Amino acid sequence: MICLGIESTAHTFGIGIVDSEGNVLANARHTLETETGGIHPIKAAQAHILYYDMLIKSALKDAKLKLENIDLISFSQGPGLGQCLRVGAVAARSLAGMLNIPLIGINHCVAHIEIGKQKTGLTDPVTVYASGANTQIIAYAGEKYRVFGETLDIGIGNFLDNIGRYMGLGFPGGPKIEKLASTGNKYIELPYTVKGMDFSFSGLQNKVRQLINKESNENLCYSVQETVFAMLTESTERALAHIGKNEVLLTGGVGANRRLTAMLKQMCDDRGVKFEVCPRSLSGDNGAMIAWQGIVEFTSGKRQELIETEIDGKWRTDQVNITWIN
Ligand code: ATP
Ligand code: FE2
Repeated sequence: MICLGIESTAHTFGIGIVDSEGNVLANARHTLETETGGIHPIKAAQAHILYYDMLIKSALKDAKLKLENIDLISFSQGPGLGQCLRVGAVAARSLAGMLNIPLIGINHCVAHIEIGKQKTGLTDPVTVYASGANTQIIAYAGEKYRVFGETLDIGIGNFLDNIGRYMGLGFPGGPKIEKLASTGNKYIELPYTVKGMDFSFSGLQNKVRQLINKESNENLCYSVQETVFAMLTESTERALAHIGKNEVLLTGGVGANRRLTAMLKQMCDDRGVKFEVCPRSLSGDNGAMIAWQGIVEFTSGKRQELIETEIDGKWRTDQVNITWIN
């Protein structure tokens, strides 16, 4: 079975094609970048419409397939920005209707987890999903993917991008902060905010902003990384201890950071827990993860009527009906 998946939750429009074995045959995408890193929903949605035709052609070319070879269409049904989600949903409905094949709406966050499991071989991980807009610690328990910890304000990637902008580093800030941090050698005390198992970044963001020009950017970046990655690691360790899992999966764009990876690995090694990172090409927003999730859900028996494919911008990870895990 071949599934074509459409991702359009935010500023990335992606078309992925995946087979039943999880082979990624195509993963075409376009991301509307802005100078500041913010997202303008209407402009992003317009870009999605403009790039749709080119991306679908390029994905089919990469996969060496024709539209008639596609057996299933899946798309990001939520969570995300309404204007952006709608473009993907309309594209998906028209393709499925034209080809007369089934259509499945996918939860974006769950797709991040399942493609990570497929590519790393992990089967029941605590997932650290650390991207631009999202930061969640998720694990399967009681027939749902439960969110054990999450940001109470902004996503960790957006936080790093804001710090980068205050320092005049340009967008995206995350990789530049990582580079500067590697030459920092003084830890500056910063607010460490873990509340229960949730965390917050806005107080820290204000504090760092005040310290710019008073401390070196190198030492500030070093201290920012040590603080926020320790917050994520603490929450992950607590989730592990609470539900007794023995695997950790790191995904999302911030997963590219070597310091975060090293901290989580150290914690996992200390606890005798397996640690894996989702490959970079599949850890940011992409269509292949949506296509793979389409295969996973269709194979487990999920079917949707057209009326059930309305987008849901606020669809939470723990509201998803899990039909594919025993
Ligand atoms: P989502 O909609 O899932 O939140 P997104 O498109 O906003 O996705 P991703 O593509 O998953 O986010 O990740 C982008 C973020 O990753 C940016 O905020 C960027 O600064 C951050 N990032 C990328 N590389 C690094 C790095 N080496 N260290 C820290 N952060 C990084
Ligand atoms: Fe995402």
